[in-house]
Amino acid sequence: MSLRSGDMLIVLLVCLCLFSPLDAQLQVGFYKKSCPNAELIVRDEVRKAIIKNGGLAAGLVRLHFHDAFVRGADGSVLIDSTANNSAEKSAPPNNPSLRGFEVIDSAKKRLESVCKGTVSCADILAFAARDSVRFSMGLPYSVPSGRRDGRVSLASEALSNLPPPILNLNQLTQNFASKGLTQDEMITLTGAHSIGRSHCNAFTNRLYNFNSTGRQDPGLDPTYAAQLKRSCPNNSSSANLVVPLDPISPTIFDTNFYKLILAKRGLFTSDESLISTPATAAKVRANANNANVFKQKFSAAMVKMGKIGVLTGKQGEIRSVCNKIN
Ligand code: HEM
Ligand SMILES: *[C@@H]1O[C@H](CO)[C@@H](O)[C@H](O)[C@H]1NC(C)=O
Ligand SMILES: *[C@@H]1O[C@H](CO)[C@@H](O)[C@H](O)[C@H]1NC(C)=O
Ligand SMILES: *[C@@H]1O[C@H](CO)[C@@H](O)[C@H](O)[C@H]1NC(C)=O
Ligand SMILES: *[C@@H]1O[C@H](CO)[C@@H](O)[C@H](O)[C@H]1NC(C)=O
Repeated sequence: MSLRSGDMLIVLLVCLCLFSPLDAQLQVGFYKKSCPNAELIVRDEVRKAIIKNGGLAAGLVRLHFHDAFVRGADGSVLIDSTANNSAEKSAPPNNPSLRGFEVIDSAKKRLESVCKGTVSCADILAFAARDSVRFSMGLPYSVPSGRRDGRVSLASEALSNLPPPILNLNQLTQNFASKGLTQDEMITLTGAHSIGRSHCNAFTNRLYNFNSTGRQDPGLDPTYAAQLKRSCPNNSSSANLVVPLDPISPTIFDTNFYKLILAKRGLFTSDESLISTPATAAKVRANANNANVFKQKFSAAMVKMGKIGVLTGKQGEIRSVCNKIN
């Protein structure tokens, strides 16, 4: 049996399609030719920022998460609101608690001076989050890049897509599933709460009026609750106050977060809900007890999170400054 030339052509086309996918994809080292120092420059800016303010590592990791979950990892979280548009940045889950914008802006400024119009803000943020994990003693990992920047940023979408800290396990699982992430990845990614801080209002419901009972959350260790009440009084002054998510090692990316949950010292209802079923509690214990496996899983989940809804190829744009569309 021999192939006719028409068949040969089909075979050839199928092969070409297999080897050059029609829609562009992210790839590690995307800027190797177009801007060889791109990742080094971002890392240098992150390093300088963290030396001045250790909390910015946590800020940048959260910034990437909040970017990815709203319209994909397209840098939309970085855009300022205008007279006509209330942007993601202005929504309550982001304002005033998100931090690290100035690190992205300064990296962008340097990148524009050496490779004008080349490196997207969405990629800068993905690199910066990776570097932040690394500088906090997480594992190094490669970030596939080639993201393009989005031109739309809506506060309403931040509000409807970002999980609030009062969610239970089912709600969290559904929220992450809607972004293509598994429950296991959700549990692993939440391990980012091993670094950084929280404003009091994200958990005061657990301290003063849990379930409208006027009591504290019985799922919260009483000694820890008493400590938190001292840091977060039941009045308006609490709004600007913050506490560390992991008081044992607030700037080190480790597995204390999971150990704290197991000791009823997780700060948020959402954190504590991770042990609300035997199956998920087993995963929390596994992460708590094996830092290396946890860190590897975390890196892989960050790469996956960074691929949510990305723009590639000719989609979107490369912004000239990260806080404004072109
Ligand atoms: C599972 C659902 C999640 C909920 C409900 C949640 C909620 C929160 C809340 C309320 C804060 C406190 C913000 C503040 O008041 O300053 C916070 C902080 C933080 N979150 Fe999450 N988070 C979740 C998942 C994640 C994920 C997936 C990541 C990253 C991979 C992440 C990274 C962080 C970091 C690093 C901080 C500290 C930020 C800082 O210090 O500025 N979170 N989170
Ligand atoms: C904002 O809206 C006004 C009135 O609708 C319009 O004239 C102006 O061009 C808009 N500005 C931007 C930046 O879109
Ligand atoms: C907290 O403050 C509110 C409003 O001022 C008050 O109604 C409530 O009783 C207080 N709760 C506790 C436990 O002090
Ligand atoms: C009240 O708290 C318990 C946990 O102690 C929880 O299972 C229940 O769903 C809560 N009820 C409401 C209405 O939030
Ligand atoms: C809030 O409560 C704390 C502790 O109870 C108290 O020291 C502080 O003065 C109060 N602040 C305001 C603004 O009421």
